[in-house]
Amino acid sequence: MLDGKKIALYVTGGIAVYKAADLARSFIKEGAEVKVAMTKSAAQFVSPLTFQILTKNAVMTNTFEETEPEVVNHIHLADWADAAVIAPATANTIAKLANGLADNFVTSALLATTAPIFVVPAMNKNMYEHPATTNNLALLKERGAYIMNPDTGFLAEGYEGKGRFPEKERIVKELTGWLKQEQVSGPLSGKRVTVTAGGTKERIDPVRYITNDSSGKMGYRLAEAARDLGATVRLITASSLPVPNGMESVAVESAQDMYEAVSEAFDSTDVLIMAAAVSDYTPAKSSNQKIKKNTGNLIIEMAQTKDILKEMGQQKTDQFLIGFAAETQNIEEYAQRKLKEKNADMIVANDVSKEDAGFNVDTNEVHLYRKEGETIYLPLADKKEIAEKILQYAVEDMKKEG
Ligand code: PMT
Repeated sequence: MLDGKKIALYVTGGIAVYKAADLARSFIKEGAEVKVAMTKSAAQFVSPLTFQILTKNAVMTNTFEETEPEVVNHIHLADWADAAVIAPATANTIAKLANGLADNFVTSALLATTAPIFVVPAMNKNMYEHPATTNNLALLKERGAYIMNPDTGFLAEGYEGKGRFPEKERIVKELTGWLKQEQVSGPLSGKRVTVTAGGTKERIDPVRYITNDSSGKMGYRLAEAARDLGATVRLITASSLPVPNGMESVAVESAQDMYEAVSEAFDSTDVLIMAAAVSDYTPAKSSNQKIKKNTGNLIIEMAQTKDILKEMGQQKTDQFLIGFAAETQNIEEYAQRKLKEKNADMIVANDVSKEDAGFNVDTNEVHLYRKEGETIYLPLADKKEIAEKILQYAVEDMKKEG
């Protein structure tokens, strides 16, 4: 039910924390990947180690404990998640969120996240019914958060009341239903789009490789645009850019890895977009040991890699194939040739000799060569805008192809 979803589980300090451990397991059983952040008070009830062992991910509790130098942990978690679940959510954390406070790891990440927020309040009956809590929850709901109704029953305080942590089955069911509703409906709703991005790396030895200047930006913008049009997106990436929210990703290194990942996804793909700069050649033999310096030249024999787009073009049944052409001359001729030879439905040609277009820049300028329509010129614009327009024409052509 939660297949491929990335859930950030924010655990705040109440007696129900022990139930959140079981909830994390349920999310994982339903196919989600779970990362946990806890407040210091939550960690008083159950050790972060319990969550770490259950989720196989490090548990974050301290804003200033930066474990990976290339990322800021609370922003990374905020950006990573498809859904932010606060369970149990205490009156204190709810109040902080309503007022935009960011004084610990949990509240800082929650203030930074753009993922949908799902709140599971669990607290003493009188705290839950206090006008401050009621108003704060209403405010969060108004801003788009989903607020669960706590269970009524025997509370830890020894009396009956509303405020109990709901059964995990109800939480999973309500979360799943809500996330489905939250998914945007658009012209690509129900379609599965596979996008490749980045430059592959071809190993010469354990410390040396051959690659190219592709940053992955063009592919990532296309993946985001497809997601925003309602598609279920799988991003097969050779780039180290962080994966955008709301999509599944497969990290690959070489052209062969990318070929295997695309082949695996292809049967369940409706639209394949090959924006990656896949190496055409790879060292015929890669050494397991670092190659030592010798006198004289080093000759590396290169073997051809598989042409992924061409192979998928041969295998295709009803998939819509978008390829790219990175050219420096004879653009139209080469692009038209690729359209035919690779059995693609569209070739996006970029002149990579231009300063603001192609590799490792934020903008692009392209021509769309289409099987089902006239050629379209898209003048220099941000890659986001170019990606949106490419998909707009692809949707049009897919309608024509039926
Ligand atoms: O990542 P950025 O920095 O944003 O840069 C974007 C880009 C310049 C990489 C992108 O816009 C682009 O042009 N991508 C394709 C680069 C490329 O490999 O072009 P090509 O003309 O060599 O290949 C033609 C098509 O065949 C491409 O869709 C490519 O993905 C595909 N191909 C190439 C080789 C191979 N072995 N298998 C393939 O499937």
